[in-house]
Amino acid sequence: MATFKPWVVCCFVSAGLISAVALVCLCIFPMGHRACPGGAFTHAAVAADSLRCSEVGRSMLQQGGSAVDGAIAALLCTSVVNPQSMGIGGGSILTVRTSKGHVKVYNFRETVPKTFKKNLLNDCTGTFGLTTGSQWIGVPGELRGYEAVHKQYGKLPWSKLFEPTIKLAKEGIPLPAFLGNLLQFGIVKNHVEKSSLCEVLCNKNKTVLSTGDILKFPKLAETMQTIAAEGADAFYTGRIGRDLIQDIEAAGGTLKREDLQSFHVRVEDAWTVPVGDAKMYVPPPPAGGPLLAFILRLMKGFPLSPNSLVGEEKILTYHRYIEAAKFTNGQKSSISDPVFNDIKSADHLNDASFINRIRDMILSNGSHNDSYYSNAKPSRDHVGTTHVSVLDEDGLAVSVTSTINQLFGGGVYSPRTGVILNNELSDFCGRASTVRAGEQPPSSMIPVILESKSGGLLVIGGSGGSMITSAVAMSMMNRLWLGMSLKDAIAAPIVFVESNNSVNYEPGFNKSVIGDLARFGHRSGTWKYFFNVVNAVEKENGCIVAVSDSRKNGMSAGY
Ligand SMILES: *[C@@H]1O[C@H](CO)[C@@H](O)[C@H](O)[C@H]1NC(C)=O
Ligand SMILES: *[C@@H]1O[C@H](CO)[C@@H](O)[C@H](O)[C@H]1NC(C)=O
Ligand SMILES: *[C@@H]1O[C@H](CO)[C@@H](O)[C@H](O)[C@H]1NC(C)=O
Ligand SMILES: *[C@@H]1O[C@H](CO)[C@@H](O)[C@H](O)[C@H]1NC(C)=O
Ligand SMILES: *[C@@H]1O[C@H](CO)[C@@H](O)[C@H](O)[C@H]1NC(C)=O
Repeated sequence: MATFKPWVVCCFVSAGLISAVALVCLCIFPMGHRACPGGAFTHAAVAADSLRCSEVGRSMLQQGGSAVDGAIAALLCTSVVNPQSMGIGGGSILTVRTSKGHVKVYNFRETVPKTFKKNLLNDCTGTFGLTTGSQWIGVPGELRGYEAVHKQYGKLPWSKLFEPTIKLAKEGIPLPAFLGNLLQFGIVKNHVEKSSLCEVLCNKNKTVLSTGDILKFPKLAETMQTIAAEGADAFYTGRIGRDLIQDIEAAGGTLKREDLQSFHVRVEDAWTVPVGDAKMYVPPPPAGGPLLAFILRLMKGFPLSPNSLVGEEKILTYHRYIEAAKFTNGQKSSISDPVFNDIKSADHLNDASFINRIRDMILSNGSHNDSYYSNAKPSRDHVGTTHVSVLDEDGLAVSVTSTINQLFGGGVYSPRTGVILNNELSDFCGRASTVRAGEQPPSSMIPVILESKSGGLLVIGGSGGSMITSAVAMSMMNRLWLGMSLKDAIAAPIVFVESNNSVNYEPGFNKSVIGDLARFGHRSGTWKYFFNVVNAVEKENGCIVAVSDSRKNGMSAGY
């Protein structure tokens, strides 16, 4: 990262030419009015999936709110603008870092209810597709999580965070182009038109809305109004919860009021991961932090520099990344809920000797058959989710990934409350052999906060289900080691290695590089769903750069 400090330059000049008085004056002035390069902010920024929600987050910060206030307001907004990705019927994992460097993870991912369908995992399908049905609904944690983190770090009143979204949900918004296009995908259109979601996402003809049609959530607006006034208890112990459970039961689900009543947020320490001379904080299992730690440390050891993208080195860099991604797929089974499984099952993924041993297995001249990378049965890939990164004026940083799992969850909409329910329990499919009440399914989510040696911060994370690890790892490699700006780092097409180790290049990936990589013998796949999205905020030398991924038509906001 470039280090240009205008005030340092000014100090030398003025010290040489004039007097100590001039030095003090000149040095204080530019500190307050630091010139940052075009597009950078000087105080705070929010990177959500959409400009609308980044701006909602920014408005909270400008009214004196903290990064936590901004993040919650931006997420609530996202539940209306990108209702396929997340909502109060889902759960999140949030990493927060104070200006003093204290880091905590708030884990409010869904849990298995007390009663659940017998032999649930027999309902898992082996292939890619949307998993519909009420048997997959996990206990939603979203609002309990907001409540806990707001209590600790919020500065604005709780109800204020809901105001912009209540207005959007009530008055409606033109259906965003991203969602409009998504609804035209055969499997998505079918999923929506054949489910209770059609009440809010279809027109009078019972066909999905088109881009620009007005999208409204009148029931959700009422629900949010109640929650804004009465707090999260309205959902977990009050009337909203009662209505929600009635609708879930009507849809054949097993969730009970006592599941809502007993939900609790886990407040945990982050994993601290050395990557080069930077320190990275990631959430522990069942989040995907250990997988990101593993792949980044594997790659960093090669080692990487901007020259790694030149000539023959470039081919080798991507070949090694593909091999590293195969080994990372092989480690997915190490990720599980530590409360119910071996608490140390993922520790080796942040262990230098293990990582070095695996790196030695990555050859420069070819690839191997699948058993070389792992004996584990491949899990199933899927897409979904959203990410918000926020940095406020006081230096509080929030990185939060939120989801209802797959697109529109399992296609279960609660007409009494306007809530779209998650299908989080399908995340156990292919990654677990048993399911227990209270357990959280394994996740790919990785809300990251990274401190550089020079005191810079990178707040980053992504969405896209199984693609999250690749999307975030490649963005971080591009930014930290391969010499790209944050914008270019996120925009660069990725290579996605499916769970079964088939290699897929995102449209736009350099064709000549793809041709050169053919000689390594990687098996190529036919993946069509590049829903990988990365949103990040970075602060270096007082300048803040915020990037929302253009793949989802995102834009950041700051000041
Ligand atoms: C509903 O279908 C009718 C007949 O096909 C068509 O004329 C009308 O434009 C449709 N309305 C909407 C809102 O799509
Ligand atoms: C690839 O490299 C390894 C170790 O460097 C060597 O043992 C092997 O023979 C090479 N394979 C080919 C096909 O060149
Ligand atoms: C995979 O490769 C190993 C050696 O590298 C070999 O022992 C094994 O038989 C191979 N398996 C298959 C299915 O080709
Ligand atoms: C890998 O999985 C994809 C589905 O995601 C499938 O289309 C492909 O055939 C699989 N490849 C192999 C070799 O199993
Ligand atoms: C693709 O990669 C090759 C090899 O590194 C390079 O020469 C070429 O300029 C690249 N093409 C584009 C469009 O970036």
